[in-house]
This record gives sequence, structure tokens and C-alpha cells, in this order.
Amino acid sequence: MFAIILGTRPEIIKMSPIIRSCQRKNVDFFVIHTGQHYSYEMDQVFFEELGLPAPDFNLDVGSKSHAEQTGLIMTGIEKILIKEKPDVVLVQGDTNTVLAGTLAASKCSVHTDSSRTIDVGHVEAGLRSFDRSMPEEVNRVVADHLSRYLFAPTENAREHLCREGISEEKIFVTGNTIVDAVFENLALAKKRLDTVSGLGLSPNGYFLVTLHRQENVDARKRLEGILEGLTHIHESTGMPLVFPVHPRTEKMIASFGLELEGFQMIKPLGFLEFLQLESQARLALTDSGGVQEEACILHVPCVTIRSSTERPETVDAGANFLAGVDPASIISAADRMLARPRSWKNPFGDGMAGDRIIDIIAP
Ligand code: UD1
Ligand code: UDP
Repeated sequence: MFAIILGTRPEIIKMSPIIRSCQRKNVDFFVIHTGQHYSYEMDQVFFEELGLPAPDFNLDVGSKSHAEQTGLIMTGIEKILIKEKPDVVLVQGDTNTVLAGTLAASKCSVHTDSSRTIDVGHVEAGLRSFDRSMPEEVNRVVADHLSRYLFAPTENAREHLCREGISEEKIFVTGNTIVDAVFENLALAKKRLDTVSGLGLSPNGYFLVTLHRQENVDARKRLEGILEGLTHIHESTGMPLVFPVHPRTEKMIASFGLELEGFQMIKPLGFLEFLQLESQARLALTDSGGVQEEACILHVPCVTIRSSTERPETVDAGANFLAGVDPASIISAADRMLARPRSWKNPFGDGMAGDRIIDIIAP
């Protein structure tokens, strides 16, 4: 029996191929939702659109400081694990949900042999930005070092793990489940919706912007500089900046009292709507991990508004440029990526990662 732990938008999306694979293969599993994300458009919409079963448990932790959120999730998960006694717990990515799920499971002894704890499987293991000031880097390093199964999306991720002394027999290069999710849902999205014209846009006639990293949006000067660079790109090209605004960013824009120019600000979109918008964008400008991957998979050039990335495969492929956060460097990165031919190869696998992961833990 497996426990699948998730709590945020990207975890729901990237765990969906694993849940589907369990269903197809009749593998016994249950889902714990931590409630780290809880607004309809950050949570429920994905269960509905992706046809996922309702979580078996919801901890409803909500938004808190890092330590409080992590502690509450650990306490809630421990109780469930003691009762349900899963053999393996799967976590995905680098959020506080992952950190707390990994810590709770790896210290929870529920087997008759009391020296054995619950095995953790870390989906999307081995990513490194090498920037420990990012909360996500701390979370992923801890999760990797405590996990029994490390599902690395790429060879590069596997090498990071080996270099940190993690035993090779624990590491499996599977591809990233985001490829499975994109392949499964893009065709469906095209059949069902026309998000681009619904927003009054034309294919290749707009830029897609997403921003939510704590270090980018919680500091006024940094956020103002990024927005200034983006506005300049709008002014010099005449193309709108379509901006589905993450709730953290919405809160910070309001609290700083910022006025945005050149942006078409919209609520966060469901995955099907977002995939459509992303696949027809002229360029994606983002600080999201998942958007860097998806833009690469969809052959949409990407500018990453950060100084480091844990997805260097996208940069090496020629699909992504690491711009930093200064207005001038964002502008020149956009110029550079607008001129780039879209002929790169997707480095994140063949869309079978979900099945591969389930075959490893449930042979
Ligand atoms: C979290 C993850 C980040 C991930 C992102 C995906 C951590 C440390 N951060 O960041 O790695 O990239 O999710 O989107 O785990 N809020 C709402 N409704 C919600 C959720 C959040 O209004 O459903 C608002 C709250 O004001 C909250 C803020 O967003 O304080 C931040 O939420 P939080 O989950 O702490 O961090 P994210 O920025 O979402
Ligand atoms: N996404 C979405 N609607 C939006 C913005 C993003 O469905 O309005 C999806 C996107 O397709 C990707 C994931 O959310 O799969 C990325 O999540 P996010 O940027 O919040 O987190 P990160 O990947 O940086 O952890």
C-alpha cells in the first residue's frame, strides 16, 4: 500500500500521472492532501480537470510561516501513517509539504520490525539550484538524503545525487512526470477549450508571465524592478503581457500598492487553460520551475527571471535563458530568446515516468 502526499498546485499536476498509473495497474494507494494550497484555483480545479479522486485525507494546514506549516503537516501526517501503515510514501518536488512528509515518514516506525521505518520515494529527485537561500533547495536536499527511492528526471539530476554520496542503487532515472501530464492533457485542452481567443489574444501574439518565488515577490525593490523590465518589453514590442497572478504575488502587489502597465492580469488558470495559453505564447517569462519545463516541452522559448535554475537542462537545450532579476538583463534576455529557433529536444523524457515509477515500487 502506498501513500501519495501532495499539497500544492504543481504537486497535484505532477502526481496526477502517478495516480493514474496506480489506477490502471490496480495498485492500492491513498492520497494525503496537506492543504498547503487551498484556494479553488490553486487546488480543487486540478482535481476536477484532471479527473483525480478526492484525497482520502486533508490536513487543511493553510498558509503559515515555514516552521509552523512544516510542523503542522508533520503532526498530521504522522497520525495517518501510524494508522494506515503504508509501505512507501511518495512525495514530489521541493515544497514544505515534501519536507514535512519526508521527515514524518522517515521517522515513523510502523512495521513489526521496529528498526524499519516507512520508505520514502522522492519524485523529481536530484534537482539543485545550489542556492541554499531558497526554501525549495533546503527542502529538496533533505528529501533526497532521507529517501529510499530517488526518481531523478534526468541524468544530470542523477549525477548530483551520486556526487552527494547517495548510493546508486537507490536512484532511478525515470523522466519527469510533467511530460506525461502535458502529453495527456494538451490534446484534451485543445478539444475542449479556446482559452487564447477567449482572452482576446492571438496565437504567438502575447507574452506569458508567471511570478511567485518568495525571493522575487516579497521584496518591494526586486518586484518593482522585474515589473519595470517586463513593462519595457511590452512597450518595445506592443504585445500584451498575460499574467495569471499567483495569490502570493497578488497579495504583495496589493500591499506594496504597485500599479502595473502593459499587463493583462488574470486569476490563476486551470491546467487545461494554462497549457493552451502557454503553448501559443510567443515567449514565457517566469520564475516557476514547472513553467520552465513545460515551455521547453512545448517548444516555447523561456526567460527565467532568477539568478539560478535547478532546471539547467532547459538552458543547455537552448530553450531557456537565465536572465537574473535586473530590468536591463530581463529585456536583453527576451530579445535573445525571441530570436532563437525553436528546434531543441525535450530533455525530460518520453511521457512514461508515472508508469516507470509505479513499476519500480510495485513490481
Ligand atoms: C509554494 C512552495 C513553492 C512552490 C509554490 C507553487 C514552499 C516553501 N513553497 O509557494 O516551492 O513553487 O508553492 O505554487 O513550499 N495563498 C492563497 N491561496 C492558496 C495558497 C496560497 O491565497 O491556495 C497565498 C497566501 O497568502 C500564502 C501565499 O499565497 O501566504 C504563499 O503560499 P505558500 O504555500 O506559503 O507558498 P507559495 O508561494 O504558494
Ligand atoms: N499552472 C496552472 N495555472 C496557472 C499557472 C501555472 O495550471 O495559472 C501550472 C503550470 O502548468 C505548471 C504548474 O502550475 O504545471 C507550475 O506551478 P507553480 O509555478 O505554481 O510552481 P513551481 O513549478 O514553480 O513549483
